[in-house]
Amino acid sequence: MTRIVVLISGHGSNLQALIDAQQRAELGGGQIVAVISNRAEAYGLERARNANIPTEHLSHRDFAEREDFDAALMARIDAYMPDLVVLAGFMRILTPAFVRHFVGKMVNIHPSLLPKYPGLHTHARALEAGDTEHGATVHFVTENVDEGPIILQSRIPVLANDTADTLQQRVHQIEHQLYPRAVRMICEQNTP
Ligand code: GAR
Repeated sequence: MTRIVVLISGHGSNLQALIDAQQRAELGGGQIVAVISNRAEAYGLERARNANIPTEHLSHRDFAEREDFDAALMARIDAYMPDLVVLAGFMRILTPAFVRHFVGKMVNIHPSLLPKYPGLHTHARALEAGDTEHGATVHFVTENVDEGPIILQSRIPVLANDTADTLQQRVHQIEHQLYPRAVRMICEQNTP
């Protein structure tokens, strides 16, 4: 079994896709042992509670320094002894110490075909550039934001009448297939 801790900040639709995959026994023996959010109002916390997964809330606002929040978060995560840390819409810039601590066992999903468009507003940027395709990437987390070895990507065509909103919706949908597939792959490799 691969013990998974998922970090979220908001809606948690990718978390839901992972929960659904686990419930269908399609996560390669992966088990989500905790969901931690930096925002109390994150709807993803409710999704986790509905699935009887332990949840925690740790507010970054309670810490003066980024380093202190990350150190506290690291300790909370470590308490669950995870084999894999999954960032699913966790909207925080991570300190180097935090990244180093989990290097090789922390993954992220990003709404672009990395290395294109790290950071925010990826859909608008893809449109502005006149790209004919767009998509999502799952990658290992390294010290630079939205960089790190790519595990899987999924692409969609950009349609003539696409807006940033319609692109975002379609990318979100493919993420829900992509992330469980990538996590499953890692869990299967983790299982002797
Ligand atoms: C997802 O689209 C994910 O790719 C993005 O946040 C969204 C979270 O949605 N992550 C990033 O932009 C990270 N740089 P969700 O809360 O519904 O899973």
